[in-house]
Order: sequence, then structure tokens, then C-alpha cells
Amino acid sequence: MASESKRIVALREEIARHDHRYYVLDDPEVPDAEYDRLMRELRELETRHPKLVSADSPTQRVSGVATREFGVVEHRVPMLSLDNAFSDEDIENFDRRVRERLELGEGARLEYNSEPKLDGLAISLTYEDGVFSVGATRGDGLKGEDVTPNLRTLRSVPLKLRGRGHPRLVEVRGEVFMTDAGFEQMNRDALAGGDKVFVNPRNAAAGSLRQLDPAVTAGRPLEIFFYGVGAIEGGTLPPRHSELLSMLREWGLRTCPEIRVTTGVEGLLGYYRDIGARRATLGYQIDGVVYKVDSLVRQRELGFVARAPRWAIAHKFPAEEEMTQVRDIEWQVGRTGALTPVARLEPVFVGGVTVSNATLHNVDELTRKDVRIGDTVIIRRAGDVIPEIVRVIAERRPRGTKVVALPKACPVCGSDVSRIEGEAVARCTGGLVCAAQRKESLKHFASRRAMDVEGLGDKVVEQLVDAQLVESAADLYLLTAAQLSELERMGEKSAAKLVAAIAKSKNTTFARFLFALGIPNVGEATALSLAEHFGELTVLQDASLEQIMAVPDIGPVVAQDIREFFDEPRNKKIVSQFLARGVNWPAPASGRSEHQPLAGKTFVLTGTLPNLGRADAEALIRKAGGKVTSSVTKKTSFVLAGESAGSKLERAQQLNVPIISEEQLRLLVKAFD
Ligand code: IVH
Repeated sequence: MASESKRIVALREEIARHDHRYYVLDDPEVPDAEYDRLMRELRELETRHPKLVSADSPTQRVSGVATREFGVVEHRVPMLSLDNAFSDEDIENFDRRVRERLELGEGARLEYNSEPKLDGLAISLTYEDGVFSVGATRGDGLKGEDVTPNLRTLRSVPLKLRGRGHPRLVEVRGEVFMTDAGFEQMNRDALAGGDKVFVNPRNAAAGSLRQLDPAVTAGRPLEIFFYGVGAIEGGTLPPRHSELLSMLREWGLRTCPEIRVTTGVEGLLGYYRDIGARRATLGYQIDGVVYKVDSLVRQRELGFVARAPRWAIAHKFPAEEEMTQVRDIEWQVGRTGALTPVARLEPVFVGGVTVSNATLHNVDELTRKDVRIGDTVIIRRAGDVIPEIVRVIAERRPRGTKVVALPKACPVCGSDVSRIEGEAVARCTGGLVCAAQRKESLKHFASRRAMDVEGLGDKVVEQLVDAQLVESAADLYLLTAAQLSELERMGEKSAAKLVAAIAKSKNTTFARFLFALGIPNVGEATALSLAEHFGELTVLQDASLEQIMAVPDIGPVVAQDIREFFDEPRNKKIVSQFLARGVNWPAPASGRSEHQPLAGKTFVLTGTLPNLGRADAEALIRKAGGKVTSSVTKKTSFVLAGESAGSKLERAQQLNVPIISEEQLRLLVKAFD
């Protein structure tokens, strides 16, 4: 008991400190998931020891404080928060509680209004006789900050409601947020101007709204969605929440287009999954969905408990940010010898999966983020994007953390590590001597987008190199089933299957073969451009630097890489071995109008192209047999990017989807021009 009461005091102090960082400074120290855990622990302890509950406990008020700088607005009706649910079972229980309280029968299926839970900051706007008079933040739920002049700068806040016959006074509530694109642009500008960057769109929105100088707010890309009504005087509300939202829309107040009326638990869970699947493409951050009993009569009947309504609940998505410890930092050697620092982490559940590694990209990033062994870090994993270290929690750095420096020798083969002045990447100079480079180039060669050898996965490649069965990728074509069946977990049947798959891969395309070679800086798009431009291998092999540079989007650096690759005697030998061992592809087609060069390829368009309009570009792709989709996934073949491309471009980079220009697209489809 004594130790529990001490823990309660400690938790309250810690939560108060986090509240200050989050609400006052807009600069949180820990991820939300950690904050929620502290609150939950405190609530549990207080439930067990009700005598220890004190008025100043953070559980006794809605979080947040009003800062001194702004005027204070007392909310006519308190701005409450929502209870959180994390599982389907929590939602089933919520629906059951609601039905029981309303004394509805077992089989009754209630109508709920389902809405995205926007991750911004809650605000209240008062309109008197249809004219915007006061705008306030939520603050502690009872009193907020007067941000009227700041809210007036938002284009989506009407200064006068549309239509007529408005209530004498109505207080509408909603969420101010920043779109992902707006946030990225703002941070880019901030970086360029040497200003502070924000850690996420929500903090950027909060920081932008809570500016003492409204001119600063005016320059920030803030948006708003309205989702409810607080006080109302001299007017009445319609009988349903969904109708109330329609009324807001008629008044010219923006509501979220994803809001739906759903029926029963199945409807709620279906909505949750649908929004969850489309979360990354909404263009703004949400951290779950909110379900509200649609009937306002029933809402009134259900009422409130302490700080949250009984008629609504937030169904949260798994946290995308979590904190964990760095156990070690190791250097991975890639296909071209590039050394990448990888943090080995205390496993942590984030974004719906357990993560135990995170890349730090290169030595500069490692230095910039100053990640050390023993540090506590924030990990982010959003959608299917690879996990990354957002930052170190400086306040939690223990004594004796270890700084990791770039090694002088390759950790795999011991060859020298070289780093060209001004380049971010450091490389092992071992080439094919280095087992790591050999393994990675074989993995690349066999991969789906290259030679597509089915069944030749990472584990088999590693064994083949370790057992010295293959020196280079060309040796794959000499492997026998007998040799393969010697490998671990490889039966005769699978050995025979693999030999067949390797043989099948011999029939390929020129572009795939060029990509599979792993020439530095030659990705899928460049390989396609080269194949289309030169048509035949011998022509490319004999091309001068100038001739290679004549291919659109190939500059002097890439041209040099290509030239050096084909000049290197070892590569020459391997290329001729491939041909001698049967690798082949169709000769360039002459009657090209018949074939569809983009068949089977999917494209995503982003930004403004130099010449083609969006519809023209789409038409061009479709005519050439390609498909156009709206969101970038691992399966996207190419992202066609133009001027001021936004988050799709970034996503393409994260997922390693090739990015091409309009000119490259034209080249790919030139048969159709
Ligand atoms: S309704 C009494 N609807 O979530 C009901 N809130 O934890 C109060 N939020 O402070 C809120 N999207 O900032 C509601 N569609 C939505 C919401 C939403 C985001 C936020 C809001 C509120 C917090 C409650």
C-alpha cells in the first residue's frame, strides 16, 4: 500500500510533466502510447485505492491547461473526452452496455454514426445570430484559450453561417488539423529557412493555432472538420447526429467526407477495418474511429460518466509510434558494398507488428540523430513502411551509452571501407570477395522484379554462398539438383523444382536482365529506358559515355557507372557467361504497334508534369497497356512524378518503387507516340 501510494504520486508528477510538454510547449517527450499507459496505470491504482484519489489527480479532469498568454474562455458546456477501445471485444461490450441501458432486446441492432478520429486539436466556435464570435481550444475541458483571431485566419472557418434562421447562439465543435502534404511542405520550408521542424502533423497543427501572432497562423496550412454541437440557445437540434452533421454542412461548416451511419456491431467493425485499410491514403492523420449513437434522444438518455459520454467510444488503431531501447547498432553490407547502420532493438509492438530492427540509412543519419547503444528511442511504423527511428528521447539517456562510429574495415570480409568526400554512403571495397556483397547481389538477381527465380529466397542464397557453390550469379545456371539437395531443409523434390525455376528464368527480357545485373544506380526504370533505347546488349556494351547520356534522365554520374560496369573485366566475363549458359530475351520487336509495352505495369501519378495534363498522361499509360491507380503500394510498378509531388513521392521512396519522369514515360511508350 505504501509503495502503491508512492507510485500514485510519482505517476501524477510524471503525467503533469508530460501534459506541460504536450499541451503547453507542443513538444512531447514520449509517444502517446506511453502517456496512455501511465494514465491507465494511475486509473487502475486509484480504482483499487479510492481513498487516494485527490482533486488534483490528472484522472479527475480532462487533460490540458490554459496557458497565461491567451484570454480564457469558459465553455458553456464542458468539452469532454472519449473512452478508448482497442479490440473488437471492447466494442462488443460497448454496444451491449448501450443496449442494456436503453433496455433494448438481445437482437436489437442500433444505428451508430461512425467517424474517423481526427488527430489534431479540438476547438469550439461560437456563432451568435450566425456570426462567428468566439473560438477556443479545449484547454482543460472547462476553460480553454481564446484563439478567435487565429481561427479567423482559417479559410475553412466561415465568418458567417450560410442560410438563415440560425440559433441565437450555437457552439460548434470540431478538430483543427494539418494535412500530410501541408505538414511536409511546412517542414521543408522550415528546414530551408533554418526554423524549427515539428515532429508530426498534430503538433504542427497545435503549434500553428496557438500562436500569439495570428499572422503566423495565417501562413500555416490548417484545416478543420466539424463533428458536433456544444451549447445551443434559441434554436433546436434535429433528432439524429447524422442530421445534425447535415445541418452543419448546410451552414457551410466542413465535415469529414468519410462519416457513415452504420448498423450494429458488425457495421462498426466493418467501418473500422475499411477506414483502417484506407488510412494511409486519406491524406490526414487519424488515430482511430469514433462511434456515436445516432439518435440524440438516446444520447440524452444514456448521459455521461465522469469525463466521457456513455453514447460514444473511440476505437483506436494500434499505436504507430512506440518507445524502446537500442540494444546494439550493427553495420549491414549491401549489394554494392554500401554500409548501412541498423539498430537492434528491444522488441516492441508498433503499428500492429513486433519490430526488433530499424535502419538508420547511413552514417550521416546516425550522427544527425545521435543514436547510441543503450538509448531509449521512438520507433515509428506506419502502414507497411519500414520501421524507422524518429528520435532519441534525450531525457532518458542513461550514463555510459556507446557512440558507434563507421568501421575502417568491412565487418564481413575485412576489406577497407572507403567513403568518397561529400557522399553519404561508405562502401566495402571487397567487391565479390565480400560474401555479404555476393549474397546481396544474388538476392537481387533472383528477386521478383529482376530474373524472378521462384524458390530462390534469402536463406537458400546464403547457404549457396556459404557452401561456396556459387561465386557469381552466372554460376546459378550450373547448379544441379544433386548439389542443391545437399543444402539444409532442401529435399530432392524442392531441389528439382529450384533447378527448373532457375532454368525457366533464362527466358527473360532485356530490361529485366539489365536490372538484375545490379549496375550501381541502375534501377528498374533506368534499365527499361536503356533496353528501349539501345535494343541490344552489344550496342549498349559498346556505347560511349555520350551515347549513354543521350538516354533521357541518365546524367553523367549514372552514365559513368554504366560505362565502368561494362569496362570491368570481371563483369565482362560474367555477362558472357550468362549468355553462354542460355540467358536470352526476345529481339527488339519491329512491329511494335501490336504489343503493349506497359502491359502488367501499374502507375501512380503525382505532382504536375512539364507537358502532359493528368488525363493525357493517364490515357497514354492506358493506351500502352498500363494501369493507373491512386495509392502507392509495394506492387506499384512506377510512380510518375512531376513538379511539387507530395507524399506519394515520399512513399515511393520508402517502398523503393521506381520513380520516373514524363520524359521517361514517353520513352517507355514511344511505340505509341
Ligand atoms: S466527439 C463528447 N468526434 O477526440 C464527445 N471527437 O478523446 C467528444 N476527436 O477531444 C468528442 N475526432 O479532439 C469526436 N470525430 C470525432 C473526433 C473527436 C477526433 C478528438 C477530439 C476530442 C477527443 C476525445
